[in-house]
Amino acid sequence: MKAGLKKLLALGLVAVLATGLVGCGNKSSDNSGGNQTALEQIKKNKKLVVATSPDYPPFEFMVSENGKSKIVGADIDLAQKIADKLGVELELKAMDFDALLPALQAGKVDMVITGMTPNEKRKKAVDFSDIYFKGENAVIVNAKDAGKFTSEDQLKKAKLGVQKGSTQETYVKDNLKVTNYKALVAVPDLIADMKNGNIDAVVLNSKVAGINVTKYDGIKVVENLKLTSGGDEEAMAVAIKKGDNADLIKLTNEVIKELQDSGEYDKILANAVDLISKETK
Ligand code: ARG
Repeated sequence: MKAGLKKLLALGLVAVLATGLVGCGNKSSDNSGGNQTALEQIKKNKKLVVATSPDYPPFEFMVSENGKSKIVGADIDLAQKIADKLGVELELKAMDFDALLPALQAGKVDMVITGMTPNEKRKKAVDFSDIYFKGENAVIVNAKDAGKFTSEDQLKKAKLGVQKGSTQETYVKDNLKVTNYKALVAVPDLIADMKNGNIDAVVLNSKVAGINVTKYDGIKVVENLKLTSGGDEEAMAVAIKKGDNADLIKLTNEVIKELQDSGEYDKILANAVDLISKETK
C-alpha cells in the first residue's frame, strides 16, 4: 500500500473513531452536538431511556421475578408502548423522585414517566406530553385516627407527610401554609414513619393510597375529606427535556391518545393493580 493511501486510511479511521466518541458523549437527549431532533437521537441510539421513582403502585413499583427485582406498573407499560412506536429498546432507570427532573434536564435520560403532575414551575424546566391520567389526592392515616380528620382545617393542624419534591409538598406548603410538615424521599418511608407515630397523615394520589392500605396493616384512607385549592387534582403526564423535541412530544401524545381511545389504558391500569395483589399475597 502506498504511504499516502495508508495515511489517508489512518486519518479516516481516526475520524470515524472521533465521531463515534462524540456520539457516545452526546447522550441521547443532548441536542448541542448535531442538528438532530430528540426523536432522531433516540432512534440513532436504538433505545429510549426512561427514569422513574418506583414507589407509586400501580403506576410504578418493584416486583421480584425469579429472585430478581424488576420495575413494573402502568407507567412502565406506557413507556414500553412509546419505545415500541419508536421502534427502539426501553431502558429504565430507577431514581429518587426529587432526582428525576435534574437528570432529565442534564440529558441523562430521555423522559421521566412517574405519575408526574405538570405544573407551572416544572413547565419552565421541562416540557410535558398531554395528560394520560387524571388523578386526585387522598389522605392516609393510622387506622386509630380514621375518624379524626373531617376537614382540611384539621389536616393543617396535624403533622403531615409528603414525598419530597412532589406536588403534594407544594400543596401542603403553599396552599395549606403548613410549615412543620415532613418531606421524605420515598412513599414507603412515609408510611413507615406514620406507623411509628412520627407523622399523623400522608397526602398522596388516591389510587396509590388505596393500594397501600391493602399492602400495609393498620392504615386507612380518610373518607369524605374534601381537599381544595390545588390539593384535589393530581394529573399525570410524561416529562420530556426541552429542546428540539416537537416530534417526540407528538409521538408520545399519539401513543397516549391511542391507548385512551381504544380503552387499553384502563386495561393497563387494571393489570398493574392485579400484579400488586398477586405480589402481596
Ligand atoms: N403527582 C405528584 C407529583 O408530580 C406525585 C408523583 C409521585 N410519583 C412517584 N413515582 N412517586 O409530584
